[in-house]
Amino acid sequence: MRSHILGKIELDRTRLAKDLGYLASVPTVEEEYDEFSNGFWKNIPLWNATGEGEDRLYRDVPGSAIATEHAARVPYLREIVQTVFVGDRLKMARTRNLKNAVVIPHRDFVELDQDVDRYFRTFMVLEDSPQAFHSNEDTVIHMRPGEIWFLDAATVHAAINFSEHSRQSLCIDFAFDGGFDEKEIFADPTVYDPGATPEIVTRKPFTQEHRDRILSLSKVIERQNFRDLLFLLSKVHFTYDVHPGDAYDWLVEIAKKADDEKMVVKAEQIREFAMEARALHDRFSLTSW
Ligand SMILES: [Fe+2]
Repeated sequence: MRSHILGKIELDRTRLAKDLGYLASVPTVEEEYDEFSNGFWKNIPLWNATGEGEDRLYRDVPGSAIATEHAARVPYLREIVQTVFVGDRLKMARTRNLKNAVVIPHRDFVELDQDVDRYFRTFMVLEDSPQAFHSNEDTVIHMRPGEIWFLDAATVHAAINFSEHSRQSLCIDFAFDGGFDEKEIFADPTVYDPGATPEIVTRKPFTQEHRDRILSLSKVIERQNFRDLLFLLSKVHFTYDVHPGDAYDWLVEIAKKADDEKMVVKAEQIREFAMEARALHDRFSLTSW
């Protein structure tokens, strides 16, 4: 796992509560890449390419990102963004809440033209939700509030919140023209303090018996529950020690065993879409046949 802790800030609970109240009051809308998630997934852009509060799509932008109307309504988070981080390289800042939901394993930035090493995504949990986890390749982590993480979104990752308890977070994206040192994202050099030990989740061993049980879902799969099975399979690696991407291989195998060619094709397409290649604005349907 290349994802790691960059530093930590002490969050002011009183000031944060006011901002969280505003974020909760913003209506929930359909998200970009909603096909990646089920349940409650709400992104609110604070800074983005256009300065428009409804623009939720990450894209390359010349210069620095523009504050949206939401940024003005969350003074504490605005202060964190502006005092902790360097504005020049800021490309997007958004809050992301996930409740009783899973974000399926995927890689980001595959729809962008440039070398993925130019992109640097940070992630900070604002509220502790003990049942919320992130995965990156072979590791599952529980992020603690205030920890500033480099999230290696260019490699396979997923997220889950098994509970109804909000997992509100602040996700900030930077991009550089060429090589850079990760400490360059910090305006306040005292915050940069890498090397802290993360809270890594100990998972159960994954056996052949588990695999056989999963593949026996071929007796259950239908076009009408194809999407549900994808989300179910995407959850397995948070509990058992398998790679997040295995979910797609199982789905393809289950569809083959069920002997439905359209499901096989769709399973292969979603694996390709999430993990390998997609064009900007490409969407994918798990429910149309
Ligand atoms: Fe992602």
